[in-house]
Amino acid sequence: MSYAKLIGSGGYLPPRVVSNDELAAELAQQGIETSDAWIRERTGIQQRHLVEPGVKTSELATKAAQAALADAGITADQLDLIILATATPDFVFPSTACIVQAALGASNAAAFDVQAVCSGFVYALTTADAYIQAGRAKTVLVIGAEVFSRILDWRDRGTCVLFGDGAGAVIMQASDKPGVIGAKLHADGNYANILCTAGNVDQGQVTGDPFLRMDGQAVFKFAVTALADSAQQVCDDAGIRLQDIDWLVPHQANVRILNFLSRKLGVDNDKVIVTVAEHANTSAASVPLALDVARRDGRIKSGDLVLLQGVGGGFTWGSVLLRI
Ligand code: ACO
Repeated sequence: MSYAKLIGSGGYLPPRVVSNDELAAELAQQGIETSDAWIRERTGIQQRHLVEPGVKTSELATKAAQAALADAGITADQLDLIILATATPDFVFPSTACIVQAALGASNAAAFDVQAVCSGFVYALTTADAYIQAGRAKTVLVIGAEVFSRILDWRDRGTCVLFGDGAGAVIMQASDKPGVIGAKLHADGNYANILCTAGNVDQGQVTGDPFLRMDGQAVFKFAVTALADSAQQVCDDAGIRLQDIDWLVPHQANVRILNFLSRKLGVDNDKVIVTVAEHANTSAASVPLALDVARRDGRIKSGDLVLLQGVGGGFTWGSVLLRI
């Protein structure tokens, strides 16, 4: 049997760091009131990285991918597939994955985007695992990348303080050693309205609302239940006990969601990788960025059992159980 094994990871955050105090001061100039204390208390977020105007998702994705290739010790021409998760693609088409493919010089790779918002990376990783297990790909680059600042309504203090920009990437390769040992995806389009960006381009005009809208309390309740149920299910299916997981790497939306989740699962807080304080919510990039941070600082080591979890617009959610 062929497993999809992680052989490298990388991350990229734009250099401009905006603290809660700086953001509050900028918003105050437009008559919008918020504070470091409110944001920290409700979300745990302390700062976010934001791109300069005009910087595109593919640029962040390419830098994260280059870091992952270097970490894996392979070159771009060894890739046979690139799967890129984003809700903020550069264009309607071509896909952002194709732009990254050209930028990397990955001349032997097919490339496509996956759209599952904050679950996008977990969706893309599950797809990569399926390709590798089926023998249709050997070495796959999986990226989560977003310029979420593009779709934020900076007059809506209930959402604009929550998000940041960034990209994370992993290289998965066929191996006889585990590897991904479990994965399960879910969706329920009946909950589309609690988190959406419902605009479009039609006849050369933006139609509908091009900004992110969210019912925060509904999302909170959905996220905690979905993540907890999904963790239990993927572990049960793999015959693994939750307490045997070394690291939980959930989507980084909000520290309160992560605290609820770890309590609900009975997993120690110190086994949960948390980057939301520094990165804010980077949607599809949040899980690979958190994974990369924890690999590079030495917490996640070879042989560890890691549960990666996404939840987001759609609604979509899912988990991947991975032996590093
Ligand atoms: N600064 C100051 N006050 C604010 C701000 C802000 N940035 N945002 C909202 N408020 C005010 C509201 O206007 C409201 O004031 P009022 O009582 O005078 O009407 C008050 O704070 C409470 O507002 P709520 O929306 O009820 O605040 P809540 O306690 O629910 O916290 C939050 C909001 C943080 C969004 C919370 O609902 C939450 O964490 N939800 C989870 C959603 C999330 O994390 N989404 C991320 C994207 S989704 C995903 O990634 C899966």
